[in-house]
Amino acid sequence: MITIRRARPEDVQEIIALANSVFRPPDSGLSPSMGMQYPLFLSEQNAQNLFIAEDNGRIVAHNGTMPGTILVNGHPISMSSMGSVCTHPDYRGQGIGTRVLMSVLDSLREEGIGLLAISGGRGLYTRNGAAHTAGYLNFTIASESYATEDSLFADLRDVYSVAYSEYCEEAVSTIADEMAALYQAESVRYLRTGREFPILLKAAPGAQKCPPDRLIAMCSIGKSAAAYTIGYRQEDDVLRVVEYAGDRLAVGFLVHRMLSDKAVQKLSLDVPTYDRQLAAYLEACGFKGSSRPYASTFMVTNASALWNQVRPIIEERLSECGAALSLNQLPVNCNEGQELLHFLFDAHQRKTYGQPWDSVLPIPLPWVNGLNFI
Ligand SMILES: CC(C)(COP(=O)(O)OP(=O)(O)OC[C@H]1O[C@@H](n2cnc3c(N)ncnc32)[C@H](O)[C@@H]1OP(=O)(O)O)[C@@H](O)C(=O)NCCC(=O)NCCS
Repeated sequence: MITIRRARPEDVQEIIALANSVFRPPDSGLSPSMGMQYPLFLSEQNAQNLFIAEDNGRIVAHNGTMPGTILVNGHPISMSSMGSVCTHPDYRGQGIGTRVLMSVLDSLREEGIGLLAISGGRGLYTRNGAAHTAGYLNFTIASESYATEDSLFADLRDVYSVAYSEYCEEAVSTIADEMAALYQAESVRYLRTGREFPILLKAAPGAQKCPPDRLIAMCSIGKSAAAYTIGYRQEDDVLRVVEYAGDRLAVGFLVHRMLSDKAVQKLSLDVPTYDRQLAAYLEACGFKGSSRPYASTFMVTNASALWNQVRPIIEERLSECGAALSLNQLPVNCNEGQELLHFLFDAHQRKTYGQPWDSVLPIPLPWVNGLNFI
């Protein structure tokens, strides 16, 4: 008989083994790295947020979340992230994945977690309330087609200096504090402590191969760190920048230098829709971004808890346009999760809601494929 329950610390190694067999199967050439790449999520400390299906004591399915907080212009919103969702191949198509998902959603609702980010957009999620809401511009740039000297960034060469680090624990320990501080100054981000930063940098969540071939680039002005990029070199020789932070001109300068130093042949950089400044700098250099939805979906798991947390953001923005919040005049049904999700956060294919909503919304959702990827 199949039973669903929360994991206990002693279950975590078996969960990791199941996740490795599904996401890093032996014939894939990938190393069984799930435990290494998700050290905070797939950990004994997080066992209570991992849900499993058991058949006579054997773990046959898993769905776990990692509780977290996102900060939007200083306002905290509780958001869990869901990942490593898997059912053993012999047990698929029997509704087990759906049952485990329901247990997770019930627990989030009871715990008052309003928002969930899910690493994927399968029917399993979208049938149950998840939707694509956030969007980004992808800039893929080849060094051979980049007119280095004509770039607006070329004039900044005497202002900024650049240092590269291939990942090694020693090299990174000297810059991790500066990187953490730059990340913590971002206006749309995850709450990420200085202790977590080097752990996640080492783990390289979301990297195709493990250990990944990383390139960390740091831009400074005088002795002050101005910006960083973290990139993973992929098998097709593209450097995929998974995270950046800091002054946007300095981020653009890092892109310019990586391409002009020939440290990188081809670079792929994803700029969330809300980051208009970086997109504008790149466009001013003649680069063209292509618009895409985040690969992750989002779900409202507890509408009233979410509403309580987004309310100060909306009130702050409304006051800037001289309006006040009247809950009776909302253009959506707040109890309908997907409606609320699109209304509050949809930046990709946004509907028109009328004023003042079109001026104050959407609320940006942080980039999910960086070090907090799950
Ligand atoms: C995705 C995954 C976790 C689903 O697990 P599962 O236990 O098979 O899930 P369910 O049985 O609840 O649903 C699977 C399908 O069976 C159907 N189904 C649900 N209950 C059923 C039942 N009682 N009898 C027959 N079919 C059923 C569902 O309609 C669903 O179809 P879908 O393809 O439209 O989603 C599993 O396929 C898996 O491990 N895939 C590989 C890893 C992966 O891709 N994970 C997701 C990362 S985003």
